[in-house]
Amino acid sequence: MPKKKELRIGLIGYGFMGRTHTNAYKRVNDFFPELKHRPVLKVVCARNEERLKAFAEQWGYESTETDWRKVIARDDIDAIDICTPNNMHAEIAIAAAKAGKMILCEKPLARTVAEAQPMVDAVEKAGVMNTVYYNYRRLPAVTLAKQLIDAGKLGKIFHYRANFLQDWTISPELPQGGEGLWRLDNDAAGSGVTGDLLAHCIDTAMWLNGGIKDVSAVTETFIKERVHTGSGKKQKVTIDDACIFHCHFSNGSLGVFESTRYARGHKALYTFEINGEHASIRWDLHDLNRLEYFDHRDASKERGWRSIHVTDGDHPYMDKWWVPGLSIGYEHSFVHQVADFIQCLEAGKPCSPTFMEAQETQKVCEAVLDSAKSRSWKDTGVVWK
Ligand SMILES: NC(=O)c1ccc[n+]([C@@H]2O[C@H](COP(=O)([O-])OP(=O)(O)OC[C@H]3O[C@@H](n4cnc5c(N)ncnc54)[C@H](O)[C@@H]3O)[C@@H](O)[C@H]2O)c1
Repeated sequence: MPKKKELRIGLIGYGFMGRTHTNAYKRVNDFFPELKHRPVLKVVCARNEERLKAFAEQWGYESTETDWRKVIARDDIDAIDICTPNNMHAEIAIAAAKAGKMILCEKPLARTVAEAQPMVDAVEKAGVMNTVYYNYRRLPAVTLAKQLIDAGKLGKIFHYRANFLQDWTISPELPQGGEGLWRLDNDAAGSGVTGDLLAHCIDTAMWLNGGIKDVSAVTETFIKERVHTGSGKKQKVTIDDACIFHCHFSNGSLGVFESTRYARGHKALYTFEINGEHASIRWDLHDLNRLEYFDHRDASKERGWRSIHVTDGDHPYMDKWWVPGLSIGYEHSFVHQVADFIQCLEAGKPCSPTFMEAQETQKVCEAVLDSAKSRSWKDTGVVWK
């Protein structure tokens, strides 16, 4: 077998996403042997040296750095992977692009449209490969939904509805800010459920159903004050704890989206349902290998919702894994994203969603927050090809 080219990774941030990405880099060549590149775990970066070293040893990184600037300055790194809280994405990405590195960035691209735009400009100017980890697109059942829609199975689409429900911030005792809890701190996160959870729903929705034209939203912050981990004092909470919006898509369909961290009993209930003139589909992250499908063109006596177990060899990505009928999981969406990134690199093509595409999701998030604040409809300004 010809020797593979190295894709030398510099990972910044080794928390939840740092682990999912690292797992993907380690697995990808085993299951996608046709790739001509091999990710090499060159360096991992975070601030706590002791824990960083333990992580590097456990996961197999060759070296560590406690200053991300040093990672970018190294000439033995090809790609920077940004797995830090949202407030750090822009600075790292812009510096990485200037240094000519490829960039794989976690979502949301940044906290605001204004913060994200120089990131888009920097990667475009430098001409470096870039992608954003909106990984749910790469679950086989979600990719199958895309294939059915693109094949015209649903016909004209009328409705898109999505939920992303969690319940982990209900306690008023939970502090804001700091490790693990930066999501509750607007300075670090940029928003609450809108940028964290709805951004995923919006990315999937626009990928499946085209651009979102305008939005009308309500948000709520149920717990008004929380102790800040940094200051140790009670501070105002300025993230959105919950957000509901409805919208028009450019194709004339209507959308309704809801996200909250106050839906007791739900841990990560991401669902969507799409209704077209001929058929409907629905999907649920808790049962991620299934796509529900209803086709009105079936003979009336046999008509009904069918549950497609998306595990056959001709389903998206599934020829890479086990035998038909056996499931894969959440982590595989990241393996698929890395495989697609490398395939695009080898084909000389952009890897969707690029920074430019992720900026469109950013525009919808911002219009949603503006709409809730001003209690009025907002145009998103989205241009979706
Ligand atoms: N694609 C998804 O489904 C998904 C899921 C979760 C999180 N995310 C995104 O991934 C990013 C990280 O989230 P997470 O859940 O992994 O967070 P986390 O809190 O688990 O990890 C954040 C990491 O960043 C590191 N870090 C913070 N400041 C740093 C600095 N100055 N220099 C170097 N490292 C620093 C921390 O040490 C930690 O390792 C966020 O942008 C988040 O929105 C995406």
